[in-house]
Amino acid sequence: AGNRTFTMIKPDAVKNGHIGAILEQINASGFRIVAMKLTQMTKRDAETFYGVHSERPFFGELVEFMTSGPIVAAILEKDNAVEDFRTLIGATNPAEAAEGTIRKKYATSIGENAVHGSDSDENAKIEGDFHFAGREMF
Ligand code: CMP
Repeated sequence: AGNRTFTMIKPDAVKNGHIGAILEQINASGFRIVAMKLTQMTKRDAETFYGVHSERPFFGELVEFMTSGPIVAAILEKDNAVEDFRTLIGATNPAEAAEGTIRKKYATSIGENAVHGSDSDENAKIEGDFHFAGREMF
């Protein structure tokens, strides 16, 4: 398995003041920060980033939400990064997320679910490259 994943702390968690607590939990779980920034996605960015979901009924809502305020984008490094990070954040729907997971603690709904985590090594690379230039990765 690959050793990098890509994450975003979504607009809800940024607005609610959870950046620090979420980064603390990520670091305490053994992930190293390779790249990180506070940024806001444009409509076009979000439509491109979430292109795979363009036919889903929630696509418009997803784009609207993800462009509604700043996010923290980051690339994280750890053995087995994609799978271990998905375990750390918990199920997409916070109602189904395990106790102690980031979504259980900070998400409000399936749409406003606090954090993103890549679902494969291939997507981790695509998503990291979407947000960061090589000179921003350390
Ligand atoms: P994420 O896994 O980061 O990327 C796709 C996102 O679509 C997912 O997080 C959810 O936030 C969002 N999503 C998935 N299902 C729904 C849904 N039924 N309604 C609204 N948003 C959804």
